[in-house]
Order: sequence, then C-alpha cells, then structure tokens
Amino acid sequence: MTQATAIMPSQRQLLYDRMAGKLEVAAHLNRKVVSFQANKEEPVYRWFKYKEGFSSVLVRHFLEEYGIRPGRLLDPFAGAGTTLFAGQELGWESWGIELLPVGAFVMQAREAVSGMDVERFRNLVNQLWSDLAVLKSDENHIRHIPITKDAFPEDTEELLNRYMSWCARIEDEKIRTLFRFAAFSVLEEISFTRKDGQYLRWDYRSARSLNGKPFDKGRILTFEEALKAKLQQITKDLAPEQILSLFDDTEPAQKTATFQPINIIQGSCLEELPKLEANYFDFIVTSPPYCNRYDYTRTYALELVFLGHDSDDVRNLRQAMLSCTVENKEKTEQLLQFYTSIGQADAFEKVIGVYEQSGAMREVNAVLDLLNQQEKLNNSNIPRMVKNYFLEMCFVIYEMARITKSGGYCVMVNDNVRYGGEEIPVDLILSEFAEHFGFDIVKILVLPKGKGNSSQQMGNYGRTEIRKCVYLWQKK
Ligand SMILES: C[S@@+](CC[C@H](N)C(=O)[O-])C[C@H]1O[C@@H](n2cnc3c(N)ncnc32)[C@H](O)[C@@H]1O
Repeated sequence: MTQATAIMPSQRQLLYDRMAGKLEVAAHLNRKVVSFQANKEEPVYRWFKYKEGFSSVLVRHFLEEYGIRPGRLLDPFAGAGTTLFAGQELGWESWGIELLPVGAFVMQAREAVSGMDVERFRNLVNQLWSDLAVLKSDENHIRHIPITKDAFPEDTEELLNRYMSWCARIEDEKIRTLFRFAAFSVLEEISFTRKDGQYLRWDYRSARSLNGKPFDKGRILTFEEALKAKLQQITKDLAPEQILSLFDDTEPAQKTATFQPINIIQGSCLEELPKLEANYFDFIVTSPPYCNRYDYTRTYALELVFLGHDSDDVRNLRQAMLSCTVENKEKTEQLLQFYTSIGQADAFEKVIGVYEQSGAMREVNAVLDLLNQQEKLNNSNIPRMVKNYFLEMCFVIYEMARITKSGGYCVMVNDNVRYGGEEIPVDLILSEFAEHFGFDIVKILVLPKGKGNSSQQMGNYGRTEIRKCVYLWQKK
C-alpha cells in the first residue's frame, strides 16, 4: 500500500458518510436532459451547438418545481444562456454573467430576435446569394491566430470574408447580428477542425503538418451549403407560430406574457458577483466549468477569431477563466487585491478560512502533491489546477450565498473527477463550502448511468463510477 492510499480515504470518507443521506439517484434526470442534447430539437436553442450547455428542460424543471412564482434568476456561468432564456420564457427576470465572448455573442444574437423586423430579415435571406455573386471582399475579416491558421479551405475562407463584408453593410443592428451569428454557428462544419475539449482536432486534408494517426472528420460542408441550412433553420424558428409559442402566456402554466429583457454581464463572475446586491436573487441555476482540463479558449478558437480576438486576447481569457486547465495560474493575489479594493478584505479572509478548514480538501491537495512527487500524474500542474479550481469555486459559492434571498435556491450541475486513480468528490467538497456560507444542502441528485447507481456504487473511493450530479441548495 502506498503512503497515498494509506492517508487517503479518511477525510473524504468522513465527508461522504456525513453527506450520504443527501445523495439521491435522480431517475427523472437523465444525461440527455442535463446535457445540451435535449436542446438539439428545440427551436432557437438549437441554433448554436454549445456542447457544454445543459438543456432548457432542466431549467424549467427546477423553476417549475421550486420557484413558487417567477422572481429574479441568475446564472453566473451563463454560457449560451440556457438558464436565462428558459427563465425568461417563464416570466423570470433573468441575469447572466459570462466571460467567454462566444457565449456572450450567442446570447446577444438571441436577444436580437425580440423586436426584430423578421420580414426584412427574410427578404435579405432571399437576396443574399445574388448580392454575394457580385460582391468583392473589401477586407480580410478573419485574422487567424497560430492555433486557427489554415482552418478553412481557401474558397470557403474567401466566401466567408465576402459574406462578412456583406453583413457589415446591413444597417439594422439586430438583423446584422443575426446574419453574423448564422456564419458563426457553422464555423466548425466548414472547417478542417473538430472540437475536442482540450484542443481542436485537425483533419488530414488540412494544409497543416500533422503528427500522429490521421484524423478524418468526414464530409466538410461548403460555406454555401452550411449557411443555407443554418439560415433555413433560423427562418423556420422565426415563423410566427414559433415566436408565438415562445412568447405566449398559456403553456406551461407559469408562462407569462410579461417578457422581460435578459441582463447579460460580460466578465468574470469572480469580479462581477461581488458587485451584485446582497439578498437580490430568488434562484440560481448554473453549471461551472468542470475540473476536467477542458479548455474553452482552444475549443472555441475559431469562434473567438471570427469575433475579432487575437492571440493575446485568447491567452488572457484562458487565464481569467475559472481554473480548469493545467495552464491556469493562481489568482489568489489578484483576488486579495480585488476584495481589498472594494473594502471586502474580511470576506476574502473568510473564504480562505473556509477553504483551508476543509479536511477533504486538504486531503485531496496532499494526495495529489504526493502523486506528483511520485510522477504518477500525467501532468505536473494537475495539483495546482485542482487547488485553484476549488479555491475559486469557494469564492463563487460565498458570493452566490450572499446574493441569494433567504429561502431561495441554487441548482448546480457538475461532474466529479479522478486524477491518478484518486476520486475527487467535487459534489461533496463544494456542498461543504456551501454549508459554511449559509446554504442548506437539500439534496445532491446523482445521475443514473449504466445499470444505475446502487448505494454501494455511490460510496467508497477508488472502486466507484464517477458521480455526475445536480446539487440543490437552499439559502437559510
Ligand atoms: C458548463 S458551461 C455553462 C453552460 C451553460 N449552462 C449553458 O447552458 O450554456 C461553463 C461556462 O462558464 C464560463 N466561465 C468560465 N470561467 C468563467 C468566469 N470566471 N466567469 C464567468 N464565466 C466563466 C465558460 O466560458 C462557460 O461558458
């Protein structure tokens, strides 16, 4: 038995034993509902495949079950805005914070639809191809960065540039946004790349010199094919009956005709949450990045370039994101300065105290450090990433508790992770932080998988399936 396994299970097992009664297999929540999959067939939600998103069904489920009547709703990791739009449809005043310009642009495009001149949009769709046939591109709109260079076939990129010149001439801002969004939504399909979590995967046909086993992404659509299909989908979803069903006040029961604009804050929730008023929100439905090395800035590099971001922007964004890649550096000093600058140095100390007090957290950090010394982790920065992930989440949870009204709820979707064979009970550690800041842990819903989670499968480290959970916390 290694030293690691000898010290390991105790603190986490203690925490597990204390919280085991809160774990509940959620037969009604399947993987489809908790992931983006269920949005694929939903008008408007299906326009942009934000794979990291959850479904509007999930948001509606919790709001309808626990939100007695619509109030104020927040998602501090808003992504493409599933929480905000699902809440808006049910009459909630919806707020979202999102750092990545990709999600912010998707939300902006969706917002552009309300009050847009749909007839004018349709007319332009019909006129587009004849205009493009005679238009000369006046500019190179796509300015590649090293990680996106050669991502498109030459003729695709040429037509994409011409299309963007065409878009730039549209005077109506809402219509222009929606046309730009249509091209933005097909970038992966028309490129030699495939989104793959940590990096973009490159097809063997690209001009890049590639190592390893050749990757064939299958048929690569031309820009014309992909854009036509996307515009058709958007036009269909903008049909009067679809718009009506989005805005009507009959189905489901809580839907209301008072359709409030959504509030999007673009920035890091680590700095934006502290600026929000205490006891302001009735409900939070959110899903932070998971502690799984997923790199949003590389995965969405094409979209970031399309939106005009250069290499420095992308690098800065990567650092500002909640730590979930091995490249993220510690933000503690930055957070100290920030909290001090807003006169909240005490809050900073309180959060650090709660983090340091967690026995399970200390155990995880110690075990990962040990595994690192023994060279048993496949990247030596994993311990730093894990430590900072939890530390930053501790700040987020402190703030979420502060701004939630008494009796209000927080629903959080997150996955546990495992490194060097060691399970990290993200659900339990984050719930422990939440308890310290004034949340009651109502339950931790564990998604059924395979044959289902028996209580045996839910406990005991090392031999278990990694839990994928939805936490339900209520502010005292
Ligand atoms: C799991 S996704 C959320 C998806 C969202 N639930 C949806 O349905 O679209 C996590 C999001 O957190 C964002 N994010 C990461 N770090 C952030 C930060 N410091 N502040 C705000 N958003 C951040 C990521 O860009 C990503 O969009």
